[in-house]
Amino acid sequence: MLGGMQTSPTRPRLRLLATGGTIAGAQTGGGGRGYTAGALSIEALLAAVPQLAALAQVEVEQVARIGSQDMNETVWRRLAQRAQAAADDPAVTGVVITHGTDTMEETGYFLNLVVKTAKPVVLVGAMRPATAISADGPMNLYNAVAVAVAPESAGRGVLVVANDEIHFAREVAKTNTTQVGTFKSPNRGLAGLIHSGRLHYFGPTVRRHTAASAFAPLAAEDLPRVDIVYAHAGMGRELIDAAVRAGARGLVIAGVGDGNLPAAALAACAEAAKAGVAVVRSSRTGGGLVERNIEVDDDAAGFVSAEELNPQKARVLLMLGLTRTREPAALQVLFREY
Ligand code: SIN
Repeated sequence: MLGGMQTSPTRPRLRLLATGGTIAGAQTGGGGRGYTAGALSIEALLAAVPQLAALAQVEVEQVARIGSQDMNETVWRRLAQRAQAAADDPAVTGVVITHGTDTMEETGYFLNLVVKTAKPVVLVGAMRPATAISADGPMNLYNAVAVAVAPESAGRGVLVVANDEIHFAREVAKTNTTQVGTFKSPNRGLAGLIHSGRLHYFGPTVRRHTAASAFAPLAAEDLPRVDIVYAHAGMGRELIDAAVRAGARGLVIAGVGDGNLPAAALAACAEAAKAGVAVVRSSRTGGGLVERNIEVDDDAAGFVSAEELNPQKARVLLMLGLTRTREPAALQVLFREY
């Protein structure tokens, strides 16, 4: 449902899709620590930032009201449809999505792969609930709207704005449990900076996205099950076997170092690949890329390397990729293109 639109014809129209998260969180007690994510409506968030009225005519739509730990493929699809509808509206300049920070990088990357538009689509969250001392949500929201209505944001794919920084959805990762500077883009760096609504872009993103992406937002039931298995010293094969037994069509390994695995786990992955399960090697390190055939013979085992994608993003691309092919070589091409 749309509501809350302000009416001056001179400012750009901005569609704001709300999903919940800490940016809409309210503290539950007097101690200042516990809070409930998604407790506040988007109208309450907007009321905290009256300066937005000078930037845009904001029209709001509450798509979900959840902490992003509960984000899933069903909500992704609904969000993708609503973002696409907003982007397809000729009167709308850009889209902002309020979202919890926990899984923002996955949602952002999913939208980056399935929403067909050159218009800006910007995800924004906060690390402190709206009722906290020095809440970061209002400035983040102001900056996100400024990014979404700026002509220079067009064609850059889905963006994430927080802490005066602009990140590409493909690059960004949450790296800290509680601090406001949690978002980093460890491999290719920031898309740009934003200070009190003033933008400074550093460069374009390099991989296929949005209008140039071949993927479509499928129903949750059409997306195959892909599990992430976290590697560690002393790891056996049990969790890999369990994922295969549970019906996983794809496995992403959060490998040690350069996407490595202990021998028993590696053998289980090779058996899974032979049985037709797509196995993608990523890394638990949080930076760098996993190349093919370094310490693991990917060619012989039929594995795919995640390149720069962290495990949670590799899972998103693998789910979409498996809707087109199960062939490791063809999947590897997707991991080089996207
Ligand atoms: C969430 O992801 O919904 C909770 C944490 C946050 O938004 O920072």
